[in-house]
Amino acid sequence: DPLARIRNLSIVAHVDHGKSTLSDRILELTGAVDAREMREQYLDSMDIERERGITIKAQNVRVGWKGHTIHLIDTPGHVDFGYEVSRSLAACEGVVLLVDAAQGIEAQTLANAYQALEHDLEIVAALNKIDLPAADPDRYAAEIEKVLGVPADEILRISAKTGAGVAELLDAVCERIPPPKGEADAPLQGLIFDSYYDQYRGVVSAVRVFNGRLGSGARLRFMQAGRTHDVEEIGVRLPATTPVASLGPGEVGYLIAGIKDVAEARSGETVTEASRPAPEPLAGYQDPKPMVFCGLYPIDGDEFAALREALEKLRLNDASVTYQPETSGALGFGFRCGFLGLLHMEIVRERLEREFDLSLIATAPSVEYRAHLTDGGTVEVHNPSEMPPPQKLESIEEPYLQATILSPTEYTGTLMDLCQSRRGEMVRMEYLGPERLELVYRIPLAEVVMDFFDALKSRTKGYASLDYEPAGWETAELVKIDVLLNGVPVDAFSAIVHKSQAQEYGRRMTEKLRELIPRQMFDVPIQAAVGGRIIARETVKAKRKDVLSKCYGGDITRKRKLLEKQKEGKKRMKNIGRVEVPQEAFIQALRLE
Ligand code: GTP
Repeated sequence: DPLARIRNLSIVAHVDHGKSTLSDRILELTGAVDAREMREQYLDSMDIERERGITIKAQNVRVGWKGHTIHLIDTPGHVDFGYEVSRSLAACEGVVLLVDAAQGIEAQTLANAYQALEHDLEIVAALNKIDLPAADPDRYAAEIEKVLGVPADEILRISAKTGAGVAELLDAVCERIPPPKGEADAPLQGLIFDSYYDQYRGVVSAVRVFNGRLGSGARLRFMQAGRTHDVEEIGVRLPATTPVASLGPGEVGYLIAGIKDVAEARSGETVTEASRPAPEPLAGYQDPKPMVFCGLYPIDGDEFAALREALEKLRLNDASVTYQPETSGALGFGFRCGFLGLLHMEIVRERLEREFDLSLIATAPSVEYRAHLTDGGTVEVHNPSEMPPPQKLESIEEPYLQATILSPTEYTGTLMDLCQSRRGEMVRMEYLGPERLELVYRIPLAEVVMDFFDALKSRTKGYASLDYEPAGWETAELVKIDVLLNGVPVDAFSAIVHKSQAQEYGRRMTEKLRELIPRQMFDVPIQAAVGGRIIARETVKAKRKDVLSKCYGGDITRKRKLLEKQKEGKKRMKNIGRVEVPQEAFIQALRLE
């Protein structure tokens, strides 16, 4: 049986727990590649990922170990890519759960391990970094046994750095993880679990064959996208890309089929043979759904076309980003963009600025609301400006998350305060050991989107970790706040907030703007309003003296410089309600504290 010696697995680990180092060791030990060469060449190919320690694009490597063929399937390491993780796990029969022996398991790793259990995968747990003096493998083995039911005496103890225990880990993988099942004669069913766009080859997909045979001459039907493409190349990564004639059941490799758009080869897509199609696609496919939205505007209005082009290019590689042109009275022409989550948003924004050399203003992140109208209709609101007026509103629903926090017990109080102040409701609280705690809350996505992660980290000196998943919708008392300058609403500062927080938001925004908006020739009222009702007000007092008087009448070149600078600044002024607002004020005011 050719399947009996195949093992498909993914290494599940928290950032910095040693996944890359372990992958290096495995490649070295199995003789796949010179270890030093490899890190630069094959792993974490994007700069931003490397800097942030996030692996988004998978490299799926095939290695040999004592007569077995092992496919190491990479999973995206970040909380916003939960669905992608689930598709990668669907390609595996087991996982190696890698946990730092000086840190213990973290929230996202635990969530991924639970997912692995839901997929009925075998978990091979290993405590890494046992060479560290601070390592406490007994303690963390007990913890893993408690939360995942993996017997402590079956948990391996390794050092990816020194290589200690890594060969035993590979032996355990071959012994404990079951081989794949599948029928070679059945119609083809292959699971696409990752795709990226290559400038020269088009879309390159990672594929796991379940049934049938994926051959190099085949015409393929992509069952969810409903498209047909001819195979150009299939192959495996050793880790160098190596074409093969075909991939059979249980095998993992890459597929190139002349596809120009990653949206046609999404994670979860099933490929079959056009001439002999499988009756059904594999289960579990989902359309990616953006959860977090913001407006992106070029600081320099001339860069609008460049921003559009950059978004088009970026989408070639990341079909989960959505964008639509949007106009703001205050910020000009830009796009309303949708993201899988907050970190996804940050990554995209950073890539736009770095790889495409754009300077952008981002509006505050927001979530999608469902506004139910008095006439029975429902409107999806992605932007405060789309919010129907109060008299037409029956109710509003907002998306919720189930958030899991793992933390040392000493921070329990401050974490509960934090969750409560963000309208969270406790679902569960459990001790993982004498000093560690699991807290589970239902919490509005909008509250997490703002700065929850930063608040969590700063309250626990970085020791708490967070994972979350979508958890339905709930009706809430939400209001739209407008901020008015000299009586004119400024769209960029509008927000949808919970009623209980409206006052605070209004006060904070008006105070901030009072400091940011320069004095004009007249008094400028800054107001925050809900419906027609003013809930906060500040005033920028009219200026009394000419700007030159600041220079004590002295140095003439200094005066000239000041005038020049003023002229420069003028170009970047927006005129709102007769008030001249420097662009910098928008940037500052939209920055989250
Ligand atoms: P990202 O690539 O950032 O996602 O992290 P990762 O989980 O892949 O961790 P990585 O392999 O980069 O290791 C993180 C740090 O831990 C590095 O500085 C490694 O050198 C170190 N490290 C990994 N394994 C061991 C180990 O067994 N012992 C010791 N002492 N350090 C280790």
